[in-house]
Amino acid sequence: MSSAVSENPLSTAEQQRLREFAHAAAANSYSPYSRFRVGAALLLTDGTIITGCNVENASYRLTSCAEQAAIARAVSEYGPNVRLRAVAVANLNGAPSMPCGACRQTLAEFGDDDVLIFYPGEGGADEATTLGALLPHAFRMQFLNS
Ligand code: THU
Repeated sequence: MSSAVSENPLSTAEQQRLREFAHAAAANSYSPYSRFRVGAALLLTDGTIITGCNVENASYRLTSCAEQAAIARAVSEYGPNVRLRAVAVANLNGAPSMPCGACRQTLAEFGDDDVLIFYPGEGGADEATTLGALLPHAFRMQFLNS
């Protein structure tokens, strides 16, 4: 675990609660093609929790991941200044899963490297890392103006 995790800790109860929100969101997954039911829960810096699930499409590439759905919902409901403190992902398939590459970049738009990421690991273990560890050298807005 990187040092950033210990600088921005969540209590075990807070982590567990966020994981439970993600797990509950996965129950709404629309995934008739992959049958991989994913949920995500975003903890915003103001303490708000927003959830999302994956939404698939017969034109497969139009699928929205759970994390992307949650971000779209957060911005839609709370506006463009939302900032992330932590993200939990869960699935109902008993599989290990981290945010995919595209989701890492989507999350990086709204959070710094120290955003905590909680995810299911091998054998159902509760794992934690940071966005910076998952996506070092993210492409960021400020690069567009340099
Ligand atoms: N999926 C997510 O929702 N989040 C991820 O980070 C990885 C993948 C979804 C997309 C698709 O509906 C299913 O999982 C299988 O790839």
